[in-house]
Amino acid sequence: MLKGRSLLEPGDFSQEELKEIFQLAGQIIDNPAAYAHACDGKLLATLFYEPSTRTRFSFEAAMLRLGGQVIGFSESGSSSVAKGESIADTVRTIACYADIAAMRHPKEGAPRIGSFAADIPVINAGDGGHQHPTQTLTDLLTILRTKGRFDNLTVGFCGDLKFGRTVHSLLKAMSAYKNVRFILISPEELVIPDYIRKEILMKNKIEFHEVRRLEEVIDGLDILYMTRVQKERFFNEEDYVRLKDSYILDEEKMALAKDDMIVLHPLPRVNEIAPEVDKDPRAMYFHQAKFGMFVRMALIMKLLGVDQAAKERVVG
Ligand code: CP
Repeated sequence: MLKGRSLLEPGDFSQEELKEIFQLAGQIIDNPAAYAHACDGKLLATLFYEPSTRTRFSFEAAMLRLGGQVIGFSESGSSSVAKGESIADTVRTIACYADIAAMRHPKEGAPRIGSFAADIPVINAGDGGHQHPTQTLTDLLTILRTKGRFDNLTVGFCGDLKFGRTVHSLLKAMSAYKNVRFILISPEELVIPDYIRKEILMKNKIEFHEVRRLEEVIDGLDILYMTRVQKERFFNEEDYVRLKDSYILDEEKMALAKDDMIVLHPLPRVNEIAPEVDKDPRAMYFHQAKFGMFVRMALIMKLLGVDQAAKERVVG
């Protein structure tokens, strides 16, 4: 049962629970009109202390498409946070008004603090360089709908593997599936954090290779997950400028890849995928953004416990 629970990191849900979410997302994709009133009378609060386009808009679109309503802020300066109110007090107050909350914050662990203070489900919409579990749901749904499986895949992560929270979350989630290999492509300065290498990859005996050049490994990949160098997490501009264009995926590199490799990117992109790649049928990143809305619709329904009533309406 997912009703009433929070989602703070990918491991919070079992594989069976994830399967249920993907099944419901698939049903919504097939018949969105059937779910147009699933959340009538329910209210989502979006608390975004950091900028966002996809996550915030897809959460809000998800709730509105389910018949619910949305309150929140996209600038914490417009709330009493500007007067020094704590995360715990802010979320506890929001819980007096809303049925569920999605929260993005620059500090790692902030949504967890919010979830302890509130008696409504709190969803981590990205916390610092730590985790981004609903992006992981988005990525997994995209993989399922395009590759048809999670097992037996070689996944290349390319770019900023140090600060890229979507990489950390997806690596963790995919480590649970059988025969998954990771190729980690990054500059020396942006390799994955040691805790991911030791506590997830080595501990679970997952095959992984750390390399510097995309051209050398692209032909062996089933999935290429490109990432932006996370400017906002750098301590100095000079390092960012030196590293920002380490990898640029273009037509020339795509020509080396398998015909059925897919390219994912959580977006926003800066320079790391040339616009010429967008027309390649293997470029899935805008489809991925759309799947993000459907999977968030399914997640909201599950956490609010309205999925059963919606199912009965569809069947009846
Ligand atoms: N993928 C993602 O988190 O995008 P936004 O920062 O635009 O929400």
